[in-house]
Amino acid sequence: MILITGGAGFIGSHTAVALLNAGYEIGILDNLSNSKYESIRRIKQLTEKECPFFEIDLLDYLALDRIFCENKIDSVIHFAGFKAVGESVSKPLEYYHNNITGTLNLCRIMREHNVKKLVFSSSATVYGLAKVVPVTEDMPISATNPYGSTKLMIENILNDLFVSDNDWSIALLRYFNPIGAHKSGILGENPNGIPNNLMPRICNVVNGKMDKLTIWGTDYATHDGTGVRDYIHVLDLADGHIAALNKCNKDKGIFTYNLGTGIGYSVFDLINTFARVNNVNIPYDVCPRRPGDVASLYADCSKAEKEMSWKAKLGLEDMCADSYKFVKKNPKGYEDSK
Ligand code: NAD
Ligand code: UFG
Repeated sequence: MILITGGAGFIGSHTAVALLNAGYEIGILDNLSNSKYESIRRIKQLTEKECPFFEIDLLDYLALDRIFCENKIDSVIHFAGFKAVGESVSKPLEYYHNNITGTLNLCRIMREHNVKKLVFSSSATVYGLAKVVPVTEDMPISATNPYGSTKLMIENILNDLFVSDNDWSIALLRYFNPIGAHKSGILGENPNGIPNNLMPRICNVVNGKMDKLTIWGTDYATHDGTGVRDYIHVLDLADGHIAALNKCNKDKGIFTYNLGTGIGYSVFDLINTFARVNNVNIPYDVCPRRPGDVASLYADCSKAEKEMSWKAKLGLEDMCADSYKFVKKNPKGYEDSK
């Protein structure tokens, strides 16, 4: 069994569907701190397959150990963690405790049970205030906030773990900006509270939860003055995890991969594409830059293509159409069908 921590969340749930559809046996572990049980129900509905769900907190060492005692776990995909940059600045201890202690518990128990294949959700945030784009995996890494520090620290911890025991196979996946949703409109991003990221905020504007979008800065040195990012469809990202798992099944080592499309789009590019593809209006105001934002960040993904034969296939139009389809079908998110 492949254990998926954080499998009820946005990226984890799409990866769970991709794995089940590809015939893998999985188990999902989540404490539902930033997700709903409804996403587990929808994973089963979409795949017409059963998989065990463990409602467990990674901070609960004994409960986690029991899962490993009672199931034949072969590898782990580790998504579970807190992810809001702004919140991490106001709640650093909670972020360090949840993300670092949770990962330490997981790795200690994996070691005890001789499970040594791990795929970890890192982030493009580790490139900090990158000066050169596109970024490659060997560029310097740094953190600009506690959330980013947790990703950096976990990458270091996993590197040290591999040095201590070369029997491990570890993939560090640095995601760029995941958006989009399952093609059915049944599974998507269902953030708790007020989202900070651009696509969920566009979705809130088009379904009337927000009056207007705020564009944070039009004076960047980019093609239209707004921030440029590497948006990647969550379905492509899900496939990236299967590729990483294959890599870990094949080779021992610690491998770092950027997962993006390699193309940078601006805030205006995203707004205009969304409006055109979905035939909607997106009113906006222009405000000063958001502190901590870089002008431009996008990936060089050639290493993932060369070593894992993985490449993103879906474009910005698919991402916009699929994000909107989920919002239209689920205007109130997963609460709807309860
Ligand atoms: P998400 O919040 O939707 O999913 C994370 C899941 O982990 C949630 O279901 C949450 O309930 C669970 N969780 C958190 N702490 C837990 C704990 N202690 N024990 C058990 N479960 C716990 O987030 P996501 O967007 O799916 O992101 C998944 C991973 O990818 C995270 O590690 C995130 O930092 C990373 N990442 C996300 C993005 C992004 O923009 N979405 C970008 C880069 C990296
Ligand atoms: N933006 C706006 N208005 C908004 C929201 C965002 O103009 O309402 C702009 C930002 O200034 C930025 C771009 O849209 O130029 C993208 O912003 P996001 O918040 O969607 O994404 P970020 O690249 O800033 O950060 C995200 C995650 C981080 C992660 C990083 C890299 O929030 O956790 O991608 O993966 F580290």
